Amino acid sequence: MDSFDSVTLPPHEIVVVPSHGSLDRKELYDQCIQVRIEVFVHEQGYDLDTEVDTLDPLATHLLLRIVPSGTPIGTIRVTKPKGASYYKVSRLVVLKEYRKFRLGKELVQAAHGVIIKDHHKSGSQGPIEAVLHAQIYAIGFYRKCGYEPEGDEFEEDGAPHQRMRARLSDV
Ligand SMILES: CC(C)(COP(=O)(O)OP(=O)(O)OC[C@H]1O[C@@H](n2cnc3c(N)ncnc32)[C@H](O)[C@@H]1OP(=O)(O)O)[C@@H](O)C(=O)NCCC(=O)NCCS
Repeated sequence: MDSFDSVTLPPHEIVVVPSHGSLDRKELYDQCIQVRIEVFVHEQGYDLDTEVDTLDPLATHLLLRIVPSGTPIGTIRVTKPKGASYYKVSRLVVLKEYRKFRLGKELVQAAHGVIIKDHHKSGSQGPIEAVLHAQIYAIGFYRKCGYEPEGDEFEEDGAPHQRMRARLSDV
């Protein structure tokens, strides 16, 4: 673990993990999964068996890491549900000791960058929208990233969640 004083944000970068089939994907992908396990499984108690799912092989993963050490400290992923006009943002984590430095928001904004690029590449004409399922305690965080709740709370992976949506041209 890198040491840093708790008031200074360490130098960091967000990298897009190369896509499925690329030779240099594995190490970065594994680091994304490890930080997710650290937070979702060890800190929050979610099930290890459902942490890695069928979306992971095809998702675009982003890794937040300290530079120059390369220590992984956060991640987020982007998927496009089959046939949907929107993108899905999920599995956002920042390691506990690195929270409240606006790194979570940086990861969401980086994911939005990936979505906007993909939208333009696909030639789609409609609005660019992202959807996510927020843990209830994180609704306020996602509001600050431009998301608004839609529909009622529901259960996912044994915990209450709220579906939220952002129109990326508005954020
Ligand atoms: C959710 C999470 C990624 C936020 O990361 P973070 O780096 O601490 O958040 P940021 O510093 O980028 O916060 C951005 C803004 O949201 C606010 N914020 C952060 N967490 C919040 C929360 N739980 N509720 C309301 N506001 C919150 C911050 O105060 C900041 O506001 P400001 O810009 O007005 O100062 C982090 O708490 C985390 O990893 N949690 C565990 C994993 C998790 O629950 N992921 C979400 C699954 S849905």
